[in-house]
This record gives sequence, C-alpha cells and structure tokens, in this order.
Amino acid sequence: MSYIEEMFGLSGKTAVITGGGGAIAGALSEALLKAGANVSLWDISRDAVDQAISRLSGSIGFREKMNGAVADTTDRESVKKAISETENKFGGFDILINAAGGNRGKSSFNETDMKQFEFVLKLNLIAGLMVPTQAVTQYWIEKETKGSIINMASMASYIPLSGVWAYDAAKAAVKNLTMGAAKEFAPYGIRVNALAPGFFIGKQNKALLIDEKTGEFTPRGKDVIAHTPYGRFGDTSELAGATLFLASNNASGFVTGITIPVDGGYLIQNI
Ligand SMILES: NC(=O)c1ccc[n+]([C@@H]2O[C@H](COP(=O)([O-])OP(=O)(O)OC[C@H]3O[C@@H](n4cnc5c(N)ncnc54)[C@H](O)[C@@H]3O)[C@@H](O)[C@H]2O)c1
Repeated sequence: MSYIEEMFGLSGKTAVITGGGGAIAGALSEALLKAGANVSLWDISRDAVDQAISRLSGSIGFREKMNGAVADTTDRESVKKAISETENKFGGFDILINAAGGNRGKSSFNETDMKQFEFVLKLNLIAGLMVPTQAVTQYWIEKETKGSIINMASMASYIPLSGVWAYDAAKAAVKNLTMGAAKEFAPYGIRVNALAPGFFIGKQNKALLIDEKTGEFTPRGKDVIAHTPYGRFGDTSELAGATLFLASNNASGFVTGITIPVDGGYLIQNI
C-alpha cells in the first residue's frame, strides 16, 4: 500500500450520507467510493436515492459498494431503521456525513413566514444534524466505533446571507454545534467536523442563483460570483479533498471540532 493510500484510503470503511440524493452528496459519494469506501445513501426521497445510485454506478461503477435507504432524518425511528438496513448490508459504518439540508425562498426580516422559517430551521438543524447525530453516536458508542462525522456548514455560518434568516440561523448553529459535539464525543474517539462549502449549484438553491427561463445568473447569482475571488461557482468535485481528509482517521485523527471552508476565497471579504 502506498503512503497516500495508507493516509487517505478508505478500504474497509463505510460511509453514510444523509440527503444522499442531493448534488453535494453525489460528489462526496464519488470521492468516498473511489477512495475504497462503501457508501449508504439515506434520503427522504426514494426517487432521489435511486437516481443518485444509478447516476453514480453509470459513471464510475461500484454498484455493489452502494446501497440506498429511505430515511426522514427528522425522525429518530426512521433513522434507526436506516441504521439497521446499513448494518445488514455492510456490517456497520464508520463515517456519517450530514448532508440533508438546504434553503427555501428569500424575504425581508419582517415578511419572513414563520412556518417557512421553522421548516428551514428544522431541515438544517434537526434533520441536518441533531437527530442523525444522536442516533448514530448512540449506535457507535455501543459498538465502540471510533467514527468520523462531517456536518454541512455554509458561508452563512460565518457571515449572514441576505434574506435567508432561518438558513443563516441554522448554519451558524451547525458550526457551533460541530464544536460542542466534538467535545462531547471526544472521550469515545468520535470526531465531529464540518465542511463549509462556498457556492455550488444544488437542487434547492438553483432557483435563487439561475433564472429558470433564461438560464442566466440571477442578480443574486451574479453577486455571489462578484464576491468570490475565484470568480465562479464551485464544482462539487472540489469538495472531495477536504472530505477525504476529514473522513480518514489516519489523515485527521487528531482533528475535531473544526469547519473547513471550501469557498474559492469567499470569506476573505476584503476590498
Ligand atoms: N449547494 C451549495 O452551494 C451549498 C453551500 C453550502 C452548504 N450547502 C449544504 O450542503 C448540504 C447539501 O446541499 P445540496 O446543495 O447538495 O442540497 P440538495 O438540495 O441538492 O440535496 C439535499 C437532499 O436532502 C434531502 N432531504 C431533505 N429533507 C430530508 C430529510 N428530512 N431527511 C433526509 N433527506 C432529506 C433531499 O431530498 C435532497 O436529496 C445542505 O446542508 C446545504 O445546506 C450547500
């Protein structure tokens, strides 16, 4: 085995990715599979999971190293069922990527609809972190698995994005809870870190960034590019390196509680 394989290779490991049918999850799955891991995709939508698996197996193969589970990660019972399915298929798992999340709409503070606010908060904080992390850490502690959790933070974890109040609140909390949970689970050898992607086109942010009718960037899409020193959106494959680093105990075994921005320099914010 080469030094690089020893450091970053994930043969014999299994990763669960929540929101597994999503855009970022697809790119992370590809990286993990190519590094040797099995991947279990959990998503609330059966269609999204099936499509992700057929897209991945069509492009890179590895069909036997993937499985899909329908799981609503706001619901503890649904998550426990997905844990059992994953255990039956792969005998357990060592990596949890909390990638269920996303935004809905944009409004002024005073026009923010509270139902929508609660929905987005719940999606990113409860489905996107709390419930799967509780269920999985309990499972890992019982099995003495020294697992690695990777949460999905955002640029909104550092600086508010305008008009997306619940998303801002939830993503700031994701970064905060990543640190708190890292301390809580350190005695069990469970690491908790996060990625903070800059701007990548996903299902739920597409309408905000690209005009459906013309295919041109919206004013917000143009703003994002103007604020990104690299002058473009990210390609989801650019999240692979940071993911493998955080997933691999050999590469990042003493790293916990951090959030890594992968943002084309967006956070520099100088003029
Ligand atoms: N795309 C970006 O630019 C970007 C930037 C920063 C952070 N993020 C974060 O990365 C994560 C993934 O983003 P994306 O753009 O790939 O999103 P996406 O919209 O493409 O995918 C999200 C997936 O989550 C699933 N999902 C929704 N609710 C669920 C639930 N209750 N249980 C299980 N699955 C559920 C959806 O069905 C969907 O397949 C999110 O947390 C998002 O906030 C994205």
